[in-house]
Amino acid sequence: MPVATEVSPETLDEARQAALQCRRCSLCEAATRTVWGEGDVGASLMIVGEQPGDREDLEGRPFVGPAGQVLRDLMGKVGMAAAEVWLTNAVKHFKFLPRGRHRLHQSPDRKEIEACRWWLDLELSLVRPRLTLALGASATFALTGNRAAMTRRRGMVEQGLHGGPVLISWHPSFILRLPNPQESEKARRELEQDLRTAWQMRE
Ligand code: URA
Repeated sequence: MPVATEVSPETLDEARQAALQCRRCSLCEAATRTVWGEGDVGASLMIVGEQPGDREDLEGRPFVGPAGQVLRDLMGKVGMAAAEVWLTNAVKHFKFLPRGRHRLHQSPDRKEIEACRWWLDLELSLVRPRLTLALGASATFALTGNRAAMTRRRGMVEQGLHGGPVLISWHPSFILRLPNPQESEKARRELEQDLRTAWQMRE
């Protein structure tokens, strides 16, 4: 039975070590490892995704799979280096459904996001970013506590549960999943615009 982690880390490195032992929900049972955030520990911009995917789970780093490639390409286009931001996820373990040799991504549910918010809050309190960029519905819920639809919220800044501003944007996987090429291109341009805005706002 998963149990809460009774620790109070004072640095990001201590937090990472503690998160490797996390048993706050059952996702730790099937995932390979905890995928902790990475980047600049004093970053003024934190970017939050949903959860590690298959590649991230195997490599132990956030955004190194196909969605990460989209994100990192767009970050490069707006002049943002990954090493200058703190890149993390709302949920630190990969949730999936085994299908033969494949592992199919499953979105984390409300309880899993709420259980993992403990780690996200800790990251926020240690990095102390000026701005947080939420990618997709799970990150937006984790950061704002509001599950309203994304359509009218994308591109807007809302107050986060931690008290700081949260800019809301599409998740790069959403761009990859859109079947219509025009819609996908439009969403890609919007994410690029939001990254550019975030990069300017963090100054
Ligand atoms: N999708 C995410 O939300 N995070 C990752 O790290 C990879 C894919």
